[in-house]
Amino acid sequence: MRGVSVLVVLAAVTLCAGGEYFPDWSSLDTRPSPSWYDEAKIGIFLHWGVFSVPSFKSEWFWNLWQNDDFEVIEFLKKNYPPGWTYADFAPQFRAEFFDPDRWAALFEKSGAKYVVLTSKHHEGFTNWPSSTAFNWNSRDIGPGRDLVGDLRTAVRKRSLRFGVYHSMMDWYHQLYLKDKQNNWKTQHFVEAKCNNELYELVNQYEPDILWSDGEWEAPSRYWNSTNFLAWLYNESPVKDVIVVNDRWGKETRCKHGDFYNCDDRFNPGTLQEHKWENCMSLDRSSWGYRRTMTLDDVLTIEELLKTLAETISCHGNILINVGPRSDGTIDPLFEERLTQLGEWLQLNGEAVYGSRPWKDQRDAADENVWYTQNNGNVYGIVTSWPQVLKLGSFNSTSFDEHATVTIIGYDEPLLVSREADGITIHFPALSSKSKPIYLPVLEFALPAKALTG
Ligand SMILES: *[C@@H]1O[C@H](CO)[C@@H](O)[C@H](O)[C@H]1NC(C)=O
Ligand SMILES: *[C@@H]1O[C@H](CO)[C@@H](O)[C@H](O)[C@H]1NC(C)=O
Repeated sequence: MRGVSVLVVLAAVTLCAGGEYFPDWSSLDTRPSPSWYDEAKIGIFLHWGVFSVPSFKSEWFWNLWQNDDFEVIEFLKKNYPPGWTYADFAPQFRAEFFDPDRWAALFEKSGAKYVVLTSKHHEGFTNWPSSTAFNWNSRDIGPGRDLVGDLRTAVRKRSLRFGVYHSMMDWYHQLYLKDKQNNWKTQHFVEAKCNNELYELVNQYEPDILWSDGEWEAPSRYWNSTNFLAWLYNESPVKDVIVVNDRWGKETRCKHGDFYNCDDRFNPGTLQEHKWENCMSLDRSSWGYRRTMTLDDVLTIEELLKTLAETISCHGNILINVGPRSDGTIDPLFEERLTQLGEWLQLNGEAVYGSRPWKDQRDAADENVWYTQNNGNVYGIVTSWPQVLKLGSFNSTSFDEHATVTIIGYDEPLLVSREADGITIHFPALSSKSKPIYLPVLEFALPAKALTG
């Protein structure tokens, strides 16, 4: 028996030259995810590209156009000469006011811990001088600079992690369309372009996150995903820090990856065993910037914080999207929202960063309270301003006579009555001056035995 197991180990070492993971999902799935990602909780997502020039309807503008979307056709008829093509928008992507240090300062102020930029969306335009995107990249046309590299430098100067979003598909690339026609039996596009982009991004920019997308038409076998990921985890310059999501082929969502995105705006409201991320957007109906966006289209700070609470209490991270303008500015409405988020996190960060789910995610009696735990305390993020709060997730053992509860930022202990089926918290009548901002967070100091889950 002993001899056999030594042989098995030797065989494994030989097969897996240079690292411990094999290019198959059962092996890749055993990789422990670097802990920084779970502790970070909050990231900023940026959708920026040629679609930011028309900035009309959404970042799917080109695809809508090809599919004869009525509003897009009318918009083009009214505003552009006949014969105008999508490629004609690229020289107008100028980024003339792009100040990466200013962006990085805003993202740091928001309390986010990582930033994910679209390095290439489905339109195929690369925001770095990719060697396989001739004349369809931000150095050759438009901004005339390496947007990925410039933002990376600015973000890393702050204490923020840097990630790249990458769409594997290019909607209208000839080789991609040819492979599709061949039912993904040929891999011309992967060989000539997609694979090269992934290795280039990792080797040149050493990102902390590789956020893959555009995978859904073809299986991961077509994309060569397991080969790439085995290299990423075994040998790449970021093998010890990188985290990836779950979009690596049409069969991989919610199944493989360091964290799962599943669908856009995934927010299950129940505890998920595997680490996940809720990617969502401040503009309710678009990821890319829209010039027709109004105040009502943008999430309020209370809505944003409620989504954050729902997400982190269920073991998720939140990735908050902002669409910059083609000139490199960020709409002051987004700036305000991110600044408000930062103010709230300055006060309530203990309930968020490094926290873990508690035994209950949502209170057993009041659906407006979401829980986390951190450093021996339980936190309850309350998505309303009640006068009296009756909570069903505590009892006389978990909230014993020594337990206390306070609102963070208002230091007096709150008046609590303990009942057989829960506790009732009486909120003080706070003036607008003494009232903590936006949503209250309760901090429970409980006996140690209540801190399970
Ligand atoms: C897939 O990855 C392997 C290992 O890196 C490589 O040898 C092969 O050329 C790749 N296939 C394509 C189509 O890119
Ligand atoms: C009280 O809550 C604790 C912790 O949640 C639980 O283990 C215990 O069974 C509860 N006791 C009663 C009497 O419900």
